[in-house]
Amino acid sequence: MGKMDDISRGTKCLGAWSHTRDQNGDKKHYNGAFPAGFLKWLKEMSWHYGKVCHLCSGTVEDPDSFRVDINPEVKPDLVSDAANTGLPDESFDVTIIDPPYSKELAKNLYDTEKHFKGIDGFTKEASRITKKGGLIVTLSYQVPKRIKNASFIAVWGIYTIPSVGYMRCFTVSRKGAE
Ligand SMILES: C[S@@+](CC[C@H](N)C(=O)[O-])C[C@H]1O[C@@H](n2cnc3c(N)ncnc32)[C@H](O)[C@@H]1O
Repeated sequence: MGKMDDISRGTKCLGAWSHTRDQNGDKKHYNGAFPAGFLKWLKEMSWHYGKVCHLCSGTVEDPDSFRVDINPEVKPDLVSDAANTGLPDESFDVTIIDPPYSKELAKNLYDTEKHFKGIDGFTKEASRITKKGGLIVTLSYQVPKRIKNASFIAVWGIYTIPSVGYMRCFTVSRKGAE
């Protein structure tokens, strides 16, 4: 871990849901979608740049990013367990992980409980596919365990208006450049 004082910390309040459109062009939201304004905030904070990969992508709308999800219905670029993608080492500047936050939510929202892993089940793969000096971003209920060869640079609480659940824990770690 870097020096504690150097870690960006705070709470951020965002809109409850980012929206996507169904095939009729009608606005809808995907269960567990990023809060509205989340990606814009990431860019403002310089935590979203270059080649971006979303692990457990859902229906996120992030042009030019690479999306990995186990559910083919969300039409990801790669249908795969995000803990074992087969993607080349060190190919992304930023890897963002937004998995189901509990086994119960995995079952009730996505029918993916047999693939459930806590956030720590995805960080090793995220680190593998992230370039040295790049960022690993997590959103879940917990601070992940420290990622090998990476240091936390930000840990924030994220809540929404209107409230749609518990406050989420957002972290950014930088992969060591050595
Ligand atoms: C919280 S949602 C992500 C929502 C996304 N951030 C958005 O804005 O739409 C979690 C996603 O993880 C997917 N998922 C669950 N287990 C997975 C696994 N082991 N590997 C890859 N995707 C998984 C689910 O299909 C679901 O789309």
